[in-house]
Amino acid sequence: MDDRITPPELYFNRRQIMRGALVGSALATAGLYRWFNPVSIPMAETAKLDGIEPSSLSESEQRARGFALDEPWTPEMSVVTYNNFYEFTTNKERVATEAMHFSTADWSLEVGGLVERPQTFNLEQLRSISPLEERVYRMRCVEAWSMVIPWIGYPVSRLLELVRPTSEAKYVAFETLHDPERMPGQRTGVLQWPYVEGLRLDEAMHPLAILAVGLYGKELPPQDGAPIRLVVPWKYGFKGIKSIVKITLTAMEPPTSWNRQGPREYGFYANVNPSVDHPRWSQATEQRIGEAGRRPTLMFNGYEDQVADLYQGMDLRANF
Ligand code: MTE
Repeated sequence: MDDRITPPELYFNRRQIMRGALVGSALATAGLYRWFNPVSIPMAETAKLDGIEPSSLSESEQRARGFALDEPWTPEMSVVTYNNFYEFTTNKERVATEAMHFSTADWSLEVGGLVERPQTFNLEQLRSISPLEERVYRMRCVEAWSMVIPWIGYPVSRLLELVRPTSEAKYVAFETLHDPERMPGQRTGVLQWPYVEGLRLDEAMHPLAILAVGLYGKELPPQDGAPIRLVVPWKYGFKGIKSIVKITLTAMEPPTSWNRQGPREYGFYANVNPSVDHPRWSQATEQRIGEAGRRPTLMFNGYEDQVADLYQGMDLRANF
């Protein structure tokens, strides 16, 4: 855990400090503190994203495909101030500030491995690979909190189709930037760096798996994984690797950061499953950020109709 002193940039007014003293510690752990006590946190400003295409599907069709939800969106303030991004800090409420000067101006993403046309994309190219769409997804963290987030992005399949995976390609490996100068958390040994993640190729090609370049109609802020991150809504949030610089098509299942860290606690598949507990806590319910009380966690995070076919014949209890 992060035990550094609260930085002077975090300005709380007196009333907030008094209220905070009463309820702060209990609510902070559930991420509700920020919701009840909106404070001014220094963080990067993000620009509106151009080129978001309205969906050609009806609202009911979007819901049937899992692209839209009839659940309230999590307040944007919570989404951008309550983050997991260990490259900056393990303190969720400090990531936005620690990452505020992280520049993505000269970004490039290399896509290669078992593909016919390896390519490196700059940021402008990445944002124009495919029309940008809004996808409103549940996000369920393995720590048992959840959010509803309006992402802006496009299916991972659009990028993979450009590089043409060969017939030997069975998996997709993702890698975050490794730059301890710009990501100070990488000077610690809290995880093995760089952060890596992976999907089976058919999972990556599923229409629900997206590369997000924005949220709430704006560019992705640094704390949420700028300039491009993975979103796989039926899996625990740690599969959603942030600030991706490399994608490699492979024949073998690639290593993944949290599995490497705790092989008995975090699996490669990490499909949301309320009946498979984490060894240290139950996964049956979750705390939706901004809500009082807990909700039941849904199988595949509520995307069972769309994704269950991917796992036919697999023992789901073993794929934690
Ligand atoms: N990606 C990188 N590179 N580093 C991280 O620490 N944390 C993961 C995931 N992606 C993480 C990451 C975890 S545990 C979660 S729950 C989500 O990002 C959180 O995404 P959010 O902060 O945008 O809500």
